[in-house]
Amino acid sequence: MTQTIGILTAGGDSPGLNAAIRAIGKTAARAHDMQVFGFLDGFRGVMENRTVRLDGDKLSGILTKGGTILGTSRDKPHRMEVGDKTLDMTGAMIENCQRLGIDALVCLGGGGTQKNAYRLSQKGMPLVTLPKTIDNDVAMTERTFGFDTALAIATEAVDRLHSTAHSHHRIMVVEIMGHNTGWLALGSGIAGGADVVLIPEIPYDMALVAESLLARKSGGSRFSIVAVSEGAISAENARKRGELKARKKAATTDADKNEAAAALATFEESREGGTARVARELEQLTGLESRVTILGHVQRGGTPSHVDRLLATRLGAEAAQAVADEDFGIMIASQRGEAVRVPLGEVAGKRRVVPLDHPWIQTARQLGMSLGD
Ligand code: F6P
Repeated sequence: MTQTIGILTAGGDSPGLNAAIRAIGKTAARAHDMQVFGFLDGFRGVMENRTVRLDGDKLSGILTKGGTILGTSRDKPHRMEVGDKTLDMTGAMIENCQRLGIDALVCLGGGGTQKNAYRLSQKGMPLVTLPKTIDNDVAMTERTFGFDTALAIATEAVDRLHSTAHSHHRIMVVEIMGHNTGWLALGSGIAGGADVVLIPEIPYDMALVAESLLARKSGGSRFSIVAVSEGAISAENARKRGELKARKKAATTDADKNEAAAALATFEESREGGTARVARELEQLTGLESRVTILGHVQRGGTPSHVDRLLATRLGAEAAQAVADEDFGIMIASQRGEAVRVPLGEVAGKRRVVPLDHPWIQTARQLGMSLGD
């Protein structure tokens, strides 16, 4: 019987984490009489035995709080920095849990956390995961908590940029988070009324983007809003990246592999600051003044929306139930409004990108928004 559980939050913080911690803790303690601990700072806390007892007091008053009361980190159990070394600490972490009397873990995180948890689970650690990230890119779930709040923040930003755009007759280019997926940029672009939305799933052609802005100008619109997902890529760079990836995959010797990996890393570095480049190029191609706004971590901050609170609470309660049922090696996903249990093997290492036939893409095209292609 599972009597004691440990909760950890890993990866970037996200609105709704505390709501989920609260739901797991309350359900585990009240419905199943379990003791609940939190590990601090993600997987690092498991390695360093840093725990906090999550009793009634600790779980009260946190539903509306942003961030995570447990702290987080991007540490990976199988590649943990320990002193000046990088070591596989998965075995040590499982032993730590056994020593502390932790029967099961509940790991809250995005794609990276699902992969890391899957590794621990394959080594024998009983665990359940929850999908959180503002990027909405975890496989097998239709929503991740954090996304709704970030979408609202990004939408408000696009709304607000309209004031300067139309007053100064400018192109306002706004960079929106999302890692390598365009959910946030596309959603907020449509909801906020952007004129152009560039997402990683649709490599763009700058000449076509400029053409669409000039068409707006000749139609009498003297301003434009361009929403750029942080992972957006030009068609030319997408081709180059594809070639570099193929080279890395085809490399047979260690030397060739390292060289190909270094070339890919240099290429990715050269793409940094890409949104500012988009604005500069558009200014040159259209002759219209442009400005850049990078929303950054503002999108991850503050109190979670009611949608994220509901989702995190629903999934959190179901995670505690799954632990009580000793149903391990699974993620609690949201599918058609239901909290469902999905084997971690179907989630780890996959990413949920915006499908090209997604209704949001159709809607954007129907409205005449440019997607850069
Ligand atoms: O995964 C969430 C996210 O906010 C991404 O959208 C973004 O690319 C990344 O995290 C930023 O990470 P960090 O906070 O470590 O800079």
